[in-house]
Amino acid sequence: MDFSNLLIQWYLQNKRDLPWRNTTNPYFIWLSEIMLQQTRVAQAMPYFFRFTEAFPTVNYLANASEEQVLKLWQGLGYYSRARNLHKTAQIVAFENNGKFPITYLDLLKLKGIGEYTAGAIASFAYNEQVPVVDGNVYRVLARYFDIETNIASAIAKKEFTHLAKELIPTGKANVFNQAIMEFGALQCVPKNPNCKNCVLNVSCLALQNKKVSQLPVKIKNQKIQIRDFHYIIFIDENEKTMVNKRAKKGIWQNLHEFPLLELPIKNDKDILKAINMYDFISNHLVSVSRLNDKQILHKLSHQHLNITFWRVNVVGKIDDGISIEEAKKLSMPIVIHNFLEKNW
Ligand code: ADE
Repeated sequence: MDFSNLLIQWYLQNKRDLPWRNTTNPYFIWLSEIMLQQTRVAQAMPYFFRFTEAFPTVNYLANASEEQVLKLWQGLGYYSRARNLHKTAQIVAFENNGKFPITYLDLLKLKGIGEYTAGAIASFAYNEQVPVVDGNVYRVLARYFDIETNIASAIAKKEFTHLAKELIPTGKANVFNQAIMEFGALQCVPKNPNCKNCVLNVSCLALQNKKVSQLPVKIKNQKIQIRDFHYIIFIDENEKTMVNKRAKKGIWQNLHEFPLLELPIKNDKDILKAINMYDFISNHLVSVSRLNDKQILHKLSHQHLNITFWRVNVVGKIDDGISIEEAKKLSMPIVIHNFLEKNW
């Protein structure tokens, strides 16, 4: 049997029973694929159930507030996915009558749907003969065919997409695409794959050439930025605090957080100096305490955040202050939410 049919046969015997596999509903498939970008299946699963329960159709999602969507997304990270999901849902619902386009090319025209997602929806929902190329697919193909192209390069995308397309047996895009992704996720795993027990081991070129651990080649030249975040949890005489919505583009856009100082801060005095800009501070007595001795390290894909929380008690009232319990209900970066849950 050839590569593609071996893969399909393996898949039919080994696939996981995942909720988005028992459907051809493009909305569910789209939702799952967005969640599964940068997120493992086990982590995405409860979110998928919560989303489909809260928003059973794309119209429900479109009509939700962005805050509701971000709150349900809380903890999944890469929040731009949630904001784009919401915007795209509104386009489908309001400009397309709630109907997803039914071809790869029309899906691609939708803002927020790129080649990968269009390929996944078109093949899984409509069985269109188009490839999907994600990290799993790169790995399986790079190893099986011993391809040394740097998968972080632009040219790799073309090369692997072309190859993946050629390999789809006619009329079987749906099952083949699922199969190759699943094979990468379960069998041809990044570290220490079990090649002895692999249905492709007789013809796998990387195995023959002893290059399994070297493939795929991935050369990134991206630096990690290190940032010091100091969050100020003001508490006024009514136990109310102050929370802002992050408006700036970049990490955590539109999520809520406490007033943030991104300055070199060592002690209470530095904090007092820095917070003088807040009106309610100037004439009031305040006390400052540091809430976590050791900075919390929160890793994002391209940034490492060292986070310190400070409690600042103020005399008087904060305008539009909210309680910590109310703050917990807002969409927040998970690192802040978890800190509150643990410490308040
Ligand atoms: N990762 C990305 N898409 C997936 C899917 N449809 N099933 C399992 N894992 C995935």
